[in-house]
Amino acid sequence: MTSKLSSFICQNCGSETSQYFGRCLNCNSWNSIVEEIKSKRSKYQDIKNSKKSIEFNEISSKKISRFTSGFKEFDRVLGGGIVPGSVVLLGGEPGIGKSTIVLQSAGKISLKEKVLYVTAEESLEQVKIRWERLNQNCFDLKIFAETNLTQIIEEIKRVNPNFAIIDSIQAIHNHEMESSPGSVSQVRACSSELQNLAKENNIALLIIGHVTKDGALAGPKTLEHLVDVVINFEGDNISSHRLLRSIKNRFGSTFELGIFEMFEEGLREITNPSSIFTNKENISGVTTTITNEGSRPFAVDIQALVNKTFYSNPRRTTTGININRLHQILAVIEKHVGIKLSEFDCYVATGGGFEINDPSSDLGVAISILSSLKNIAPLASSSFIGELGLSGQVRKSNNLRTKIEEAARLGIKNIVVPKLDEEINNNFKNSINIKEISNIKEAVDYSLLNY
Ligand SMILES: Nc1ncnc2c1ncn2[C@@H]1O[C@H](COP(=O)(O)OP(=O)(O)OP(=O)(O)O)[C@@H](O)[C@H]1O
Ligand SMILES: [Mg+2]
Ligand SMILES: [Zn+2]
Repeated sequence: MTSKLSSFICQNCGSETSQYFGRCLNCNSWNSIVEEIKSKRSKYQDIKNSKKSIEFNEISSKKISRFTSGFKEFDRVLGGGIVPGSVVLLGGEPGIGKSTIVLQSAGKISLKEKVLYVTAEESLEQVKIRWERLNQNCFDLKIFAETNLTQIIEEIKRVNPNFAIIDSIQAIHNHEMESSPGSVSQVRACSSELQNLAKENNIALLIIGHVTKDGALAGPKTLEHLVDVVINFEGDNISSHRLLRSIKNRFGSTFELGIFEMFEEGLREITNPSSIFTNKENISGVTTTITNEGSRPFAVDIQALVNKTFYSNPRRTTTGININRLHQILAVIEKHVGIKLSEFDCYVATGGGFEINDPSSDLGVAISILSSLKNIAPLASSSFIGELGLSGQVRKSNNLRTKIEEAARLGIKNIVVPKLDEEINNNFKNSINIKEISNIKEAVDYSLLNY
């Protein structure tokens, strides 16, 4: 028995009401509410052969064996490879390279596993053209061009692959629902059916989803709860670097980062990220920090430009650093180094525009600013680590040891760090000079000679 039901769903946040509003009560966005008609089945009628609970002790704990995505960087973000039966959501802006990375991965996986690629956005020929450009091998790889969910599910069941890809969730539709493809209800309904299919048949499923302008996955929060892993594919139009960032992971740590570069023959892994975000120049206004993204430390340049202002309110602009952090760092410099910055514009940017979330980049930002202001290059071959407290103290940094190791590996000669808890005894100790400091003034005195 089915009955037609209509409800009003916000296309921005997915909240549901029984009545139309011009503005969503949940997320306050205007004109985002759309009427969607769905056929609702009665809750209990589909349960035919009901399952029974089982003794917990009797469940065999056979080790889940993950399989590789073919990319070490991708595996890292997944928490060590693809878990059979898991559902991964890969989000990203239009044209960032989602289909490319997934097709490359599909080819590599198909050398060992059975793979099915469902293309709902592009024709078979279009995918083939991309494939030819990628110049890769494949073995057990099937491709299916379809947008109808029922057909897709039938085909997945028929092929019974180890790994299936849906490109993309916004392009497929469940014809039992009257709302259009890409609407929140469609995205939600299609994902949950695919999710059930994956779990029942132990198929690893990768679903591609577009993100909206403000960076949220369309059909957003509800979808994130549904899947096991949420990964964002990021980059910008200027550089060819692409980042895979895990947002949620039931099988691994979050905030892992995979780094790639886009070439004509597809994406290539960057195994030594420090090399792309630093320049190793010793000029005024530039320092290097070691930041920790996920489990891996790497070096990133911080550049500052400080100029006398012509505005009544001086300008402060950042790329890759949170603007509020900059305001805070400037306030700390004013108060604890005793330099008035209100007459200066201040621009700060990271190497390659890399977004640093690690607060221990503060010290590098502060030294870059002072270095630019005074027009003196900081101590040659040095790196700066430490979060600035409001009272001018340099606070502890997480994973300091691995950061120092990375700096030593890169051949950096001096590293300025917060006071260490333990003596660092290691083979790198002789190759790098570790300067422990407790506040910003000490850091300035040490690294900006003739200040
Ligand atoms: N010949 C080429 N040489 C270099 N890069 C290319 C070439 N052709 C395409 N690209 C890159 O591939 C990107 C498109 O990749 P892809 O189609 O995988 O993105 P997508 O995220 O799947 O996009 P969509 O949202 O449209 O599905 C382009 O933006 C461009 O950077
Ligand atoms: Mg695509
Ligand atoms: Zn809303």
